[in-house]
Amino acid sequence: MNEHLGIAGSGAIACGLAATAARHGDVLLWARSAASAERARATVDKVVGRFKDDVDPARVTVVTALEDLAPATVLVEAISEDHGMKVELLQKLAAVAGPDALLATTTSSLSVEGLARDTGDGIAERFVGLHVFNPVPAMELVELVFPAAAGPAARDRARALCEALGKTAVEVPDTPGFVVNRLLFPYLFDAVRFLDSSGMEAKDVDRCMVLGTGQPMGPLALLDFVGLDVSTAIAEEIGVEVPERVRTLVADGALGRKTKRGLLTYG
Ligand code: CAA
Repeated sequence: MNEHLGIAGSGAIACGLAATAARHGDVLLWARSAASAERARATVDKVVGRFKDDVDPARVTVVTALEDLAPATVLVEAISEDHGMKVELLQKLAAVAGPDALLATTTSSLSVEGLARDTGDGIAERFVGLHVFNPVPAMELVELVFPAAAGPAARDRARALCEALGKTAVEVPDTPGFVVNRLLFPYLFDAVRFLDSSGMEAKDVDRCMVLGTGQPMGPLALLDFVGLDVSTAIAEEIGVEVPERVRTLVADGALGRKTKRGLLTYG
């Protein structure tokens, strides 16, 4: 791979992307505290451990100082779906990045144009939205989103990066939820409303959709898999109503698979 990836974040997307990229080169992964760095290390090691081919997890270096991302040629912000938090981090990444480095965001629902604009003057020319999917090593698609001012070199490098990572890039418009989340999340939350109105068991609703439509996961398991907190943030950005049941679960700390409790329960 021609690029050296520096990823800022320690959640499923950041760690999944770092593990995926470790197949193709060295990766820097920034976590905001020693505790989150420790969790990120364990997640990367676990994800790499699932790979069938031999990949050295030591290719991912976890750091806690943003300055340590300076050698990266592509700096990827992969933190919570919050415009203000993302902009604050992107500004710091822009300050440590080399002049030719690309700046990227893995936002799944926020405006890429808006993030580039608020990060600073001249940023949009070398800014790209790289919307990867969960679990990153297994999902082939990257939705590529460019601000209007993105330069041809930045566009070419972003496409080449996706290819080098073994992904298929599809350029999509900078509209809320892009393509996949715009079409997926109304369906997922509708399944929760259906669960409430039908009185069916969650696992049976899921079984119907898995066995009747050939999807790998039912809609309720998929919400739990993405995380009910993350799913709520996406729904709010794209204007999908969040059912009360989901809000109650989130308030109760039942965030889905990662907390072993959500719309379904996990052993
Ligand atoms: N790499 C990393 N993790 C993987 C993986 C892979 N190749 N395959 C599965 N996993 C993880 C699962 O998350 C799970 O982890 P935990 O239990 O530790 O949380 C674990 O491995 C075990 O999973 P399974 O044994 O159930 O794995 P499986 O082989 O049956 O396949 C699946 C699981 C690949 C996730 C499959 O069910 C699938 O394709 N589901 C649909 C996923 C999907 O639609 N993703 C898009 C979500 S929308 C999104 O991501 C948008 C956004 O912006 C948030």
